[in-house]
Amino acid sequence: MKLDHILHGGDYNPDQWIATPEIWDEDMRLMKQAGINAATVGIFSWSLLEPEEGKYEFGWLDAVFDKLYKNGQSVILATPSGARPPWMAQKYPEVLRVEETGIRNEYGVRHNHCLTSPVYREKVREINRRLAERYGKHPALLLWHVSNEYSGACHCELCQRAFRAWLKKEYRNDLNELNERWWNGFWSHRFTDWEQISSPKSRGENHVPALKLCWDRFVTDSHISFFENEIAPLRELTPDIPVTTNMMGFYDEINYQRFAGHVDVVSYDAYPPYDAADNKKTAAQFGFTYDAYRSMGGGGPFLLMESTPSVVNWRPVNKLPRPGRAAQAGLQAVAHGSDSVQYFQWRKSRGGHEKFHGAVVDHDGRGDHRVFLETAALGEKLKRLAPVAGSLCPAKVAVVYDWENARAVRHYNGLNNEYRDYLAECLKWYTPFFDRGFTVDVIGQEADLSPYALVIAPYLYMLLPGTAGRIRRYVENGGAFVATYLFGVADKDDRVFLGGLPGDGLREVFGVTARETDSLPEGVHGLMKYRGRTYRTARTCDILRSDGAAVLGVYTSDFYAGSPAVTVNRFGKGAAYTAAAGSEDEFTGHFCEDLIRKLKLKPEAGIETPPGVYARARGEYVFLMNFTDDRVSVKTGGGYLDLLSGGPAPETLALPVCGVAVLKKPDAPE
Ligand code: GLA
Ligand code: ZN
Repeated sequence: MKLDHILHGGDYNPDQWIATPEIWDEDMRLMKQAGINAATVGIFSWSLLEPEEGKYEFGWLDAVFDKLYKNGQSVILATPSGARPPWMAQKYPEVLRVEETGIRNEYGVRHNHCLTSPVYREKVREINRRLAERYGKHPALLLWHVSNEYSGACHCELCQRAFRAWLKKEYRNDLNELNERWWNGFWSHRFTDWEQISSPKSRGENHVPALKLCWDRFVTDSHISFFENEIAPLRELTPDIPVTTNMMGFYDEINYQRFAGHVDVVSYDAYPPYDAADNKKTAAQFGFTYDAYRSMGGGGPFLLMESTPSVVNWRPVNKLPRPGRAAQAGLQAVAHGSDSVQYFQWRKSRGGHEKFHGAVVDHDGRGDHRVFLETAALGEKLKRLAPVAGSLCPAKVAVVYDWENARAVRHYNGLNNEYRDYLAECLKWYTPFFDRGFTVDVIGQEADLSPYALVIAPYLYMLLPGTAGRIRRYVENGGAFVATYLFGVADKDDRVFLGGLPGDGLREVFGVTARETDSLPEGVHGLMKYRGRTYRTARTCDILRSDGAAVLGVYTSDFYAGSPAVTVNRFGKGAAYTAAAGSEDEFTGHFCEDLIRKLKLKPEAGIETPPGVYARARGEYVFLMNFTDDRVSVKTGGGYLDLLSGGPAPETLALPVCGVAVLKKPDAPE
């Protein structure tokens, strides 16, 4: 999707205000005032669009489209499958979801639908077709927003049947192969009939990791096929309008890295808890997430589809972020590759579950509210950032965060059952690069590794077919690859590789064998020595044997004192590192510094910043963001153009609290 400006908008629900058309007119006036150029409509409009089965009412939406168009806003049109009208559930109970208890839900809330139900799929296709017929040619239509935050699963009989069909395909109709790969000799679980298999449940089978992994994959595929069913009429009638669906961070019940291959542009709903948690940690965590979304979409811009201009309503305590923070948070997404800043939502609902969720227009309805004024000020800035739209963020460093691995780590039993925070481990290795102004891609294990000088794969427990070969070739061809503990333990069906770990031929590449794994309770530490310094170890420690790798660090406590903890193996033209000890941030930081030096990596941002101030390169621009609680000054080295002021940036730039500067690099053509 190619944009020549940054989208500024959000969820707009005029259907909640259908009885007060004067509010619609006020919305138009205020949207202009706030620099809003896009509105997402229709997300939860089904009961108004089809108040009775087969009776469609588009008049109100026609009016909304025309008003927005006249007012200068593009329309992002949603398909309404996220929530359905009550009449549908009453007439066709099969559209409702069955939970893992086996009990069918009653009508209520949202996202409460069966993914397989032919009736529901048909109803969705039909309403989507009508929307495409009616608005497909409207000049305001910019993008399809398909459904809303797909999530969950259904365990009804239709879904069980679909799951069995999925398994038959996956295991080539061979139940023996399934028994073998699921290790069903254990506890006498050999199946003799496909009908004996059903979804994992607390009152049924929940101790077979391969079943759980297959169910996860099936659920992902069900969502994708539900989505494909939704977009069939859109593709047919509006082939030039791109399609997205909004995703939720690292929600791991849908493999987003797979799903991303089916959308035209990746979009993400981000609600960083700034000012309610450690801001530096939040900045790194959301930087990581944005990088994952950018990478998921193939490196092109993604869209920030939702964010809050003030608070959310779903945290235990919903602290107001300080003035300026919401705008800064939006600009952070842009710095990492978003071509939009969009909100949930435009106007606060008067009633219902989300009436205290922040919105651009508060219940007072006024354009002089603090939140409104800040949004409008950001709108002004985003106009000036139009040249940033479309620009890319090529990276030399990648951290592997893999959805399949996330599920595998969640499902296995044993070792350290208290701590297996895969995301936290990835963040720990990402942060040293984030802090120093590097552009980092966050990729799945099936991604092409060749663009990178350095790839770090924390806690990559599961190797899918092909991964080991890609790592081997990458290192052979000169890449540097860092693995940590519990690397290459299990295959796609969660069977442990035999003959020593890491498996699948990787012992030769890394020149080590991980012989045992020690688990330490929270608060208990061991010790290791690396380059003359002693560091604390924690949580999970693999005890290595070197089969030829150079030993860079050893354990210095417990019975395995003297065993390698950090190694490097020259393999082909590259280097394969193993950092086998669960470690503290300090070690990770020092180790990454050494890697940066050894590999002569240069931060793309090119401007050094004090702690808590982050520099990000995007295309020919550098974003500087102050997440500390003080005014700071940053030495730019001079020659930059300040995109927001339009003038040259001073050599020493002052950034207030929540301040963001966007500079054009000196060597970039005007
Ligand atoms: C999600 C949903 C929105 C809204 C917001 C509230 O992201 O997509 O409809 O419920 O959460 O934060
Ligand atoms: Zn179902």
